[in-house]
Amino acid sequence: ARVVVLLSGTGSLCAALLAATDDPGYPATVVAVGSDRDAEGLEHARRRGIATFTCRLRDHADRTAWDAALAAAIAEHRPDLVVSAGFMKIVGSAVLARFGGRLVNTHPALLPAFPGAHAVRDALAAGVEVTGSTVHLVDAGIDTGPVLAQREVPVLPEDDEARLHERIKTVERKLLVDTVARLVTGHAGNDTEEPR
Ligand code: GRF
Repeated sequence: ARVVVLLSGTGSLCAALLAATDDPGYPATVVAVGSDRDAEGLEHARRRGIATFTCRLRDHADRTAWDAALAAAIAEHRPDLVVSAGFMKIVGSAVLARFGGRLVNTHPALLPAFPGAHAVRDALAAGVEVTGSTVHLVDAGIDTGPVLAQREVPVLPEDDEARLHERIKTVERKLLVDTVARLVTGHAGNDTEEPR
């Protein structure tokens, strides 16, 4: 299956997915990696000779034009699945019309808890002892689409945001790799861990 990854940052989740595709038995290949900026994460693709694209909001008249351009840039690679892995923009109706239902996002919290761009900081501030990672289908809301998979991650007393986020990312990487494989082989069953 053809996967396009969208990212905005370091791209460690994208790197994990790329590493998984090194296994010929993995049922997906990453055909392109796109970003809304010249993100360092694009380097993971460049190093492998995988196509990259950048779709900057400021290069377009408004969000609608940006959204349409992003949809076209993704479509050029004929993806079966689009994976938002640390992509920090909210996609619009053009992207959703084209890829809704096969566009997933990974979020560093147990949605619906702590949606938005500061999930790890918010979980720490809330003083929860357990947070986690969620892979969900993207819908028109912010981190509101149907949950496909979740994994719990403990919060430790001496955690700061960076430490907790790194622990979550370790879990996120595996959850994303496993969920993408399940989705493209058609067993998109629900993989949420039974609450302990
Ligand atoms: C991940 O925790 C993702 O859930 C969040 O941003 C982080 C991206 O990390 N939206 P990286 O850029 O893949 O290292």
